[in-house]
Amino acid sequence: MYQPNDKFTQKAKSQGYRSRAIFKLEEINNKFKLITVGQNVLDLGAAPGSWLQYCAKIVGPRGKVIGVDISPIKNLPQSNIKTIQQDIFALNSLMDQWKNKFDVVLSDAAPATSGIKIADSSRSLALVEQALKIANQVLKKQGNFCVKIFMSPEAEKFYQQLKKYFLKTYRFKPHTSRNNSKEIYFIGLKKKN
Ligand SMILES: C[S@@+](CC[C@H](N)C(=O)[O-])C[C@H]1O[C@@H](n2cnc3c(N)ncnc32)[C@H](O)[C@@H]1O
Repeated sequence: MYQPNDKFTQKAKSQGYRSRAIFKLEEINNKFKLITVGQNVLDLGAAPGSWLQYCAKIVGPRGKVIGVDISPIKNLPQSNIKTIQQDIFALNSLMDQWKNKFDVVLSDAAPATSGIKIADSSRSLALVEQALKIANQVLKKQGNFCVKIFMSPEAEKFYQQLKKYFLKTYRFKPHTSRNNSKEIYFIGLKKKN
């Protein structure tokens, strides 16, 4: 059940983060080291912005973090963060400009759920496929990718597809992900070309 004031939400708030989602990315990054100092990071589905806050700290002043969300992202003070209000399905012209510019692409994008299983899982799948399409275009060779997906047989097929593009792939369920959530993160390290 959704618990707006669970301990991770409170912890995030006390540390100045905008969402408990920070702890999922922190766990992922501690384990897989996908983000490091000086890098350029693209964060898809970035609102309200806790992943942006975390990434800005990790990449430091020599790095850059761009967050895209269909919803507005309230201004963040860090000068290495830029935000864009845009649907990730409408990024074509930016994708051309961003070709091979990023070291890391993250996607925590999630559709608003309708409760109708088949509709929710197909919308989630469309988002992850779009995130992979963007990653393939904008990541440098050896770049890293992390995407949230809701488990389904199609998600497993998507995972197999990731192996074509990345040298190493992993499935990871952070401890801080809610127990009743079907979300999992797929990680692709070292884009092949
Ligand atoms: C779980 S939240 C992301 C939380 C974020 N990682 C953080 O740390 O604050 C998922 C986000 O995906 C966004 N989203 C869903 N569909 C999208 C789309 N087509 N284009 C852009 N953003 C989208 C939603 O607006 C929502 O803000």
